[in-house]
Amino acid sequence: MRILLTGGSSDLGHVLSKELKNRGDTPLRIDVRAPMSDSGVYINGSILDRPLLRQSMEGVDCAVHIAAWHGFHEFTKQKDVYDFWELNVTGTSYVLQTAVETGVKKIVHISSESVLDWSGIYGHTKVLGEEMVRAYAQRHGLEIIILRPRAFIPHWNKATYGSFVEWAQWFWKGAVHIDDMNQAVIQAIDFLAEKSIPAPLTLTVDGAYEYTANDLSNWDADGAGTTFKKYYSEYYDLAIKHGLDPALKPTTLDITETRQQLGYEPQYSLRNLLVELELFGADGPPMPTF
Ligand SMILES: NC(=O)c1ccc[n+]([C@@H]2O[C@H](COP(=O)([O-])OP(=O)(O)OC[C@H]3O[C@@H](n4cnc5c(N)ncnc54)[C@H](O)[C@@H]3O)[C@@H](O)[C@H]2O)c1
Repeated sequence: MRILLTGGSSDLGHVLSKELKNRGDTPLRIDVRAPMSDSGVYINGSILDRPLLRQSMEGVDCAVHIAAWHGFHEFTKQKDVYDFWELNVTGTSYVLQTAVETGVKKIVHISSESVLDWSGIYGHTKVLGEEMVRAYAQRHGLEIIILRPRAFIPHWNKATYGSFVEWAQWFWKGAVHIDDMNQAVIQAIDFLAEKSIPAPLTLTVDGAYEYTANDLSNWDADGAGTTFKKYYSEYYDLAIKHGLDPALKPTTLDITETRQQLGYEPQYSLRNLLVELELFGADGPPMPTF
């Protein structure tokens, strides 16, 4: 399949392009910055350049709309409200309209759990993005899967996380690993290739947890750190050494529908994180090659 990735030089775009290329698809990556690898075709430019976007979408089987500024850019004030509007709202409208004009019917739209923070700058633009997706699907018969991941910035993004431990401290609160997010996108692409959907599916993407619902509702009933010790007692000292609080209860999201619809089964959990921390220390595992 020819698959267009908007914002293809993103963290997600790199992981996705590598897998798509390895399995024989052709990823086309439109981005204003060059990717770190040559997995697939790089189209140097902006989704706000409508003729270029149109050219990029011709003959594509599916588009994955990734390009957006996200929570980190709002939090650090790297991008302002105009930047967010231009890329996340105008950019999304261009992607949808161009899909109609070029006959691309299948789209995976990368949204965010931040739609729940609908009055924030980022959350608001993602709400509007989803709303446009629903309107276009209804008006033009586009078939779209909306994925709503929680934060998945990888530990190798050094502009965000100074070290693996810093990343681990964030992941500790409940998160999804980029490889699991990648899995969800690949499954969404394949789902759309095989089936027809009359209306967009909106699917939440979270990571894997050893803790059960019962553990979470009776968290540390027997004392601080006891739920952690039930699963990871051998890592207790390691966690303390790296400032990971065994008593901290992670938040989890309901991914029942994502499991049912896509067969999504996240793999990376706190256990994986602890194993990597023990193996590689504070530097963490090496950055993957793309
Ligand atoms: N990273 C997260 O934790 C997270 C969590 C939930 C949802 N999301 C969503 O995932 C997507 C981002 O994924 P990521 O974190 O891998 O992205 P990223 O921040 O690593 O990359 C975004 C990419 O968009 C590109 N871009 C910027 N302006 C562009 C333009 N005009 N035209 C084309 N490309 C442009 C950038 O150059 C960059 O390569 C967004 O839709 C975001 O809302 C991200």
